Amino acid sequence: MSDTYDMIILGAGPGGYVCAIRAAQLGMRVAIVEQRAQEESSGPRLGGTCLNVGCIPSKALLDSSEHFAMARDHFSEHGIQVGKPKIDIKTMMKRKEKVVDTLVGGISGLMKKNNITVIAGRGQLVSTGTVAVHSGKDAQDRKEYHARHIVLAMGSTPIELHNLPVDGTHIITSDHAIALSSVPKRLVVVGGGVIGLELGSVWARLGAEVQVVEFLPQICPFLDADVAKALQRSLGKQGLTFHCSTKVQEASVSGKGKNAHVLLRATNSKDESVEFEADKVLVCVGRKPVTESAGLSDAGVTISERGRVMVNHDFATNVEGVYAIGDLIDGPMLAHKAEEEGVALAELLAGHANTMDHNLIPNVIYTEPEVASVGLTEAQAKERGIAVKVGKFSYAANGRARAASATDGFVKILADSTSDQVLGAAIIGTRASDLLAEIVSVMAFGGSSEDIARTCHSHPTFSESVKEAALDCLGRVLHS
Ligand code: FAD
Ligand code: NAI
Repeated sequence: MSDTYDMIILGAGPGGYVCAIRAAQLGMRVAIVEQRAQEESSGPRLGGTCLNVGCIPSKALLDSSEHFAMARDHFSEHGIQVGKPKIDIKTMMKRKEKVVDTLVGGISGLMKKNNITVIAGRGQLVSTGTVAVHSGKDAQDRKEYHARHIVLAMGSTPIELHNLPVDGTHIITSDHAIALSSVPKRLVVVGGGVIGLELGSVWARLGAEVQVVEFLPQICPFLDADVAKALQRSLGKQGLTFHCSTKVQEASVSGKGKNAHVLLRATNSKDESVEFEADKVLVCVGRKPVTESAGLSDAGVTISERGRVMVNHDFATNVEGVYAIGDLIDGPMLAHKAEEEGVALAELLAGHANTMDHNLIPNVIYTEPEVASVGLTEAQAKERGIAVKVGKFSYAANGRARAASATDGFVKILADSTSDQVLGAAIIGTRASDLLAEIVSVMAFGGSSEDIARTCHSHPTFSESVKEAALDCLGRVLHS
């Protein structure tokens, strides 16, 4: 078979593999290069960060640990007596691995179904139209491939802090925190962002004493301030402790074997020294795009000051015929954002219009309560001089939430004061991730709070809270 394709993609994460499928559907001859090795097979492990060490394993553990916490803390309220539940980490991890392996295998199946060539190895951009793939250590394990379009989709890896050197045992990243073999007694999480709260929740539910050290005054700085406050309060009730406006100085490991522990020194908002002792320190202060191992600088690809590959509105880099998508480029580092960009790029290269709207990328934190948001926050609307009306509805006034004992939360909708167009929303509460989908759809069609308010919602559902928040925008809330 010839080594020339219409499209070659470097990286088989959600950005790369989805781009490959859409391009193949549109009639292109596609190859995808992936470096993540498979233990028991010569083919690479597809699915990227998302499937292997990100979205899927973290959600599998969130679900398992939520069942455990429910059985321990809430079954008795429902009159269910199960005694004191015990945790079997080995089985929990095996289940997580099975979930991951099944989905990874599914991606290989999708590649076959769509006649996409999968190439194992580290891809390197050589120049317009040419990539090299290194499949081993020797120079002769290098082979060149050619394509009209080259798509960079190499994703991201955890940022490491020079004063907290990761050793994988005591100072760890999310890659390790999804695969611990026992529950740490004390876990310090550095970074009160999405990973810190999700994986912090997992280990807190399973019995770890979790302290979160956040550099800024607010956890999850991208959230509406009142939503972030409510989330911190809820997680606080579950046993997580928060230290905001706290700057990490250094960490040292002392003791050996089972007695080893980490001493973390930091300074608080008053510039006082504070110390934390922990069995493990999870560093989750953001992720950095993979721009160094794929020959980008030699090929002349422009990288921004923030370390992202620079692209124009149509995902084109400054090198002709070379495009980039996903975590590599600007915007939130989210799997669904990478996927949408993959689809949009494949369609653009097949001559279609670019339909992607970067203002409508939803963001979800899968803690309990969940937090889901889209569009503008109140602070952003104010900064941009946009007058908005805010509609809010508490889960405590929702019948289904009462029936489920899930009254902790609220829906908040922002609509333009003049036109009533919905400009943003944030939901904190059980099933927030699913409730947000309705609001995203309405926003995609340029809809108003009146549109949501006039839509009949089933009773009793959590979704009635969305309707009530929309009614509140209009001053017509019914149940509060
Ligand atoms: P990646 O998924 O990072 O894929 C890039 C692939 O390229 C990798 O497989 C890598 O091995 C490969 N690669 C790199 N360099 C080369 C090379 N030179 N040659 C060949 N292959 C190469 N997002 C969500 O939307 N929802 C979530 O719930 C969520 N949870 C997360 C939980 C955790 C713990 C983490 C770490 C991330 C989470 N994310 C979540 C973020 C999500 O995983 C990423 O945004 C997404 O995977 C980015 O997709 P991508 O295709 O750009 O890159
Ligand atoms: P993040 O950007 O969400 O949060 C990092 C946090 O660390 C911020 O609050 C930041 O202020 C803080 N921080 C930065 N430097 C610090 C320091 N020196 N000391 C203390 N705090 C510091 O990054 P995170 O949690 O690492 O996640 C990376 C990305 O992965 C996320 O941005 C998100 O895009 C993606 N992700 C998405 C998930 C989802 O969609 N549910 C789940 C997990 C990850």
